[in-house]
Amino acid sequence: MTQPTIELKPSASPLSDAEREALLANPGFGRHFTDHMVTIKWTEGRGWHDGQLVPYAPLSLDPATMVLHYAQEIFEGLKAYRQPDGSVATFRPDKNAQRFQSSARRLGMPELPVETFIEACDALIQQDRAWVPAHGGEESLYLRPFMIATEVGLGVKPANEYLFIVIASPAGAYFAGGVKPVSIWVSEDRVRAVPGGMGDAKTGGNYAASLLAQAEAAAKGCDQVCYLDAVEHRWIEELGGMNLYFVYGDKIVTPALTGSILEGVTRDSLLTVARDLGYESVEGRVSIDQWQRDTENGTLTEVFACGTAAVITPVGTVKRNSAEWKQSNGELGEVTQKLREALLDIQRGVSEDKHGWMHPL
Ligand code: COI
Repeated sequence: MTQPTIELKPSASPLSDAEREALLANPGFGRHFTDHMVTIKWTEGRGWHDGQLVPYAPLSLDPATMVLHYAQEIFEGLKAYRQPDGSVATFRPDKNAQRFQSSARRLGMPELPVETFIEACDALIQQDRAWVPAHGGEESLYLRPFMIATEVGLGVKPANEYLFIVIASPAGAYFAGGVKPVSIWVSEDRVRAVPGGMGDAKTGGNYAASLLAQAEAAAKGCDQVCYLDAVEHRWIEELGGMNLYFVYGDKIVTPALTGSILEGVTRDSLLTVARDLGYESVEGRVSIDQWQRDTENGTLTEVFACGTAAVITPVGTVKRNSAEWKQSNGELGEVTQKLREALLDIQRGVSEDKHGWMHPL
């Protein structure tokens, strides 16, 4: 596979230091974007070519561009963290690059080499490094690599042209309430993904499919929707955009990957971080009845959601039909807090990176 070099065409009018600092003071999530982006094209017969680092700007697409009609699109999310010495490092970019390849295979798209994925992210961070928030807080620079089908035409088939892009956005807490526990609405009838479908691919379609149930959750006064499996409507799968963990005293359990669950990088990392802290961590099956019963009988001590954007967010109130219960009295539980700190400490470079997860730039 060809390996394009990334040609630099810097912005003539980046944001001033004062404007950027004002945005970094309260970045929110996904609201502001850095001065540049990376673009790389793929064409049938030619492979990857024309890698460029260009000013962040709107795309111009023919109305018949295939992605607009058949949603052949995949994306990733990873973060760059300011380290104590002022340098910058990303967290497990190789895992995101591999998942991007796996999503590409599922959507009939070309696979971007892992090294090119990492090089593109690194090039953007290097250029816009002033946008990486200061060390020590919760903030980071969120990278959003994605790929769209750019062939023009209305025939339904894998496109013969694609565009890979990386944009970056300074990020604070994903939820407006910060690390306050989120409330969950359990969707008993709508499902996120089916066996044999594309639930394990990170593609916009899965998120589009989650929006109606997410709106229903909001109408019930909840922050997030929780999906059950599509066959028995019984086994916990994941939230709209995050994986789930169940804490049973010293043991943490996350739903095993069934093909319809996204293989989250945070989810995977926590299996190891938890073991490092002396907890037992396993992948298993948790039913919605078990969730309710074990909370009521006190054996299920905490529940939390995890993802790159959300990091680790405790679950507070859970609503299911007419039933309603609270995890950890609606507060941040001890295990959730320990895991959150341990993971963030690795990412912020204040504890030893035993597993070689950090990628320094
Ligand atoms: C991420 O955590 O990076 C995601 O892509 C999920 C989305 C809800 C922001």
